[in-house]
Amino acid sequence: MTVNFPPGFLWGTATAAYQIEGAPHEDGRTASIWDTFSHTPGKTLGGDTGDTATDHYHRRADDVRLMADLGIGAYRFSVSWPRVQPTGRGHANQPGLDFYRALVDDLLDHGIRPVLTLYHWDLPQELESAGGWPERGTAHRFADYAHLVAEALGDRVEMWTTLNEPWCSAFLGYGSGVHAPGRADDLAALRAAHHLNLAHGLGAQALRAALPSHGQVSVTLNPGVVRAFTGAPQDVDAQRRIDALATRIFTGPMLHGAYPEDLLADTAAITDWSFVHDGDPAAIKQPLDSLGINYYTPTVVAAATDNGGLPGEALEPSPFPAATGVAFHRPPGKRTAMDWSVDPTGLYDLLVRFAEEVPGLPLVVTENGAAYDDKPDGDGTVHDPERIAYLHAHLDAVRRAIADGADVRGYFLWSLLDNFEWAYGYSKRFGAVHVDYATQVRTPKSSARWYSQVARTGQLPP
Ligand code: NOJ
Repeated sequence: MTVNFPPGFLWGTATAAYQIEGAPHEDGRTASIWDTFSHTPGKTLGGDTGDTATDHYHRRADDVRLMADLGIGAYRFSVSWPRVQPTGRGHANQPGLDFYRALVDDLLDHGIRPVLTLYHWDLPQELESAGGWPERGTAHRFADYAHLVAEALGDRVEMWTTLNEPWCSAFLGYGSGVHAPGRADDLAALRAAHHLNLAHGLGAQALRAALPSHGQVSVTLNPGVVRAFTGAPQDVDAQRRIDALATRIFTGPMLHGAYPEDLLADTAAITDWSFVHDGDPAAIKQPLDSLGINYYTPTVVAAATDNGGLPGEALEPSPFPAATGVAFHRPPGKRTAMDWSVDPTGLYDLLVRFAEEVPGLPLVVTENGAAYDDKPDGDGTVHDPERIAYLHAHLDAVRRAIADGADVRGYFLWSLLDNFEWAYGYSKRFGAVHVDYATQVRTPKSSARWYSQVARTGQLPP
């Protein structure tokens, strides 16, 4: 049966500055932590960097035309902080702002709604050299930056997002160190998480102060879908602990104005949380116009036993350095090229969870998608039936969540283009549009045609 999505539902694609733009030295841009990290030997697969990426900085107009040809209604992109405020403080860099103004104008000319993310992981290196996210000052710098961008683009961008996936910035950047800036220090990761929360709160206030009254403020999280390996109490407790570190460490202060008591107790050996000042929780809990949710795959956890799990169970490395005594199991089922399991129920569960937890707050799926090893055929076309199946199943999960009462306003496919997949470099292709990195030729995959049809009609085919 063909299914109709609600009228006005936003059908979008998403990207992020460092993953697509290239042009790292042009028009006054300085280095971000991802420039430094990717240029450090051994940090990314094959030593890949974002130096060229998809050359979007020079192909902006073509890329917008491509989206328009595909009938995409909204585009979620991020602003590169070191492009518009090179030292992370002080005056704006006008040429950098001009690029985003031109991008937004192109989008509006083509009837595509711009959805702007202020921070998608590219902290100006100067701010990292001053201590980075573990330091409180970085949150204040972010608020100034938010104000500066809102003043420049607030007349034409309605939908604003403070942070993208602060969990990754804190725990992959400062905990496991597999992302920039590559520090591995549990305390630094928890301090970073708090200062990212504070940055969100102060940034949201700065946006409200600078935006016209119809401006909308949001944040994008990647809440964990954490499943217990068995119903045994110790596994259920492992689930609770990881849920605290993956999700409630952000949703606690952002949505409810307090850090969860169990999180504070679980991390007491690492910190007494005295870096949280009086008034911070209230500053962090700002009114939101929507909550952005990114979802790819669930996590399965158990209490760690001496052998780290049940006999014969494959274990995954822990992305939570602060979580001792937890074993991460490989979920069963089909997997993408990231080796992530395909489980659309996880998206349904998340949407229903937040619909119940924060009634009245609209939800937007700000990222969902899959990497596969897509290659052009002899005739130059790129067929990716697995991605179509992935998108279909996940959109069906969104549809079910809406039918069950979740107020979901939009869906953004990650990603418009194949791009720089962080530590995996260019080895993982998430795009609906294939990029030949040698020539920069863009070729819409069959999934792009399929998604285009869904976006144009607002209908999910059977
Ligand atoms: C989430 C991140 O926001 C995005 O940058 C990344 O490429 C995708 N996940 C896929 O890993």
